[in-house]
Amino acid sequence: MILDTSRGRVGYEEAGSGLPLVLLHGFPHDRSLWAAQLAAPLAGVRLIALDLPGFGESDAADVPSLDHWADWVVAALDALRIDRAVIGGLSMGGYLTFAVWRRHASRVQGLILADTRAGADTLEGQDKRVAMQAQVLKAGPGAIAAAMLPGMVGKTTRAERPRAVEYLDAMMRRASVAAIHDALEALRTRPDSTPTLATITVPTLIICGDEDVLTPVAESEAMHAAITDSQLAVLPGAGHASCVELPAAFNAVLSGFIQARFP
Ligand code: MLT
Repeated sequence: MILDTSRGRVGYEEAGSGLPLVLLHGFPHDRSLWAAQLAAPLAGVRLIALDLPGFGESDAADVPSLDHWADWVVAALDALRIDRAVIGGLSMGGYLTFAVWRRHASRVQGLILADTRAGADTLEGQDKRVAMQAQVLKAGPGAIAAAMLPGMVGKTTRAERPRAVEYLDAMMRRASVAAIHDALEALRTRPDSTPTLATITVPTLIICGDEDVLTPVAESEAMHAAITDSQLAVLPGAGHASCVELPAAFNAVLSGFIQARFP
């Protein structure tokens, strides 16, 4: 579906009714990252998955920065007539969730931080983003998908869940060159969210696959230690794309958190 917002057209999908829960995908995904969550909506929850700027059916944003994207997420909330929501994201979606909290805390009633980290890119990491920008211009999204896929899933998924691997591979190959290029810019220039952690006052669920090599469990443990009202769930046998690799376990953790904290 398409939403007309003050920032342009936003692709989205929603399921269920009740507490608004907005989920933001990682890089270079689209809203179909959350297909298994949309297929089994939690009781009393209105689950909304957005295509981030340039991905899926969404227009590109004017500025490739996570701060700008955070305002864009809030424009989507406005268009959906949602005052406050639980906001969550996986990896890049988690980085964006921090920006939404910093800029629009009054619109946030809870946070989900899945397979993500608070820190900014290292200098070496920034150089890799620039190299990837050149790579996508030269070789297209397929080259980026091929580079990302090994880290995108855990070793158990690689060995035992070929459908999940194919699903993620196809999703990444669908991303446009422009979306990948802009997202790499937003990722490269994002600020360090570590100082933000102590400012978080809403209930926060942190989820991480124990086989995640891109944002390892230690990153989640550090966020858990720094966010006062947080709980950490580690999913055995999942990697970076834990919501796709182990959807039932992911949904169970999400459901337990929502029922306990937003009864
Ligand atoms: C993601 O899944 O969003 C990316 O791995 C994030 C990143 O490259 O930092």
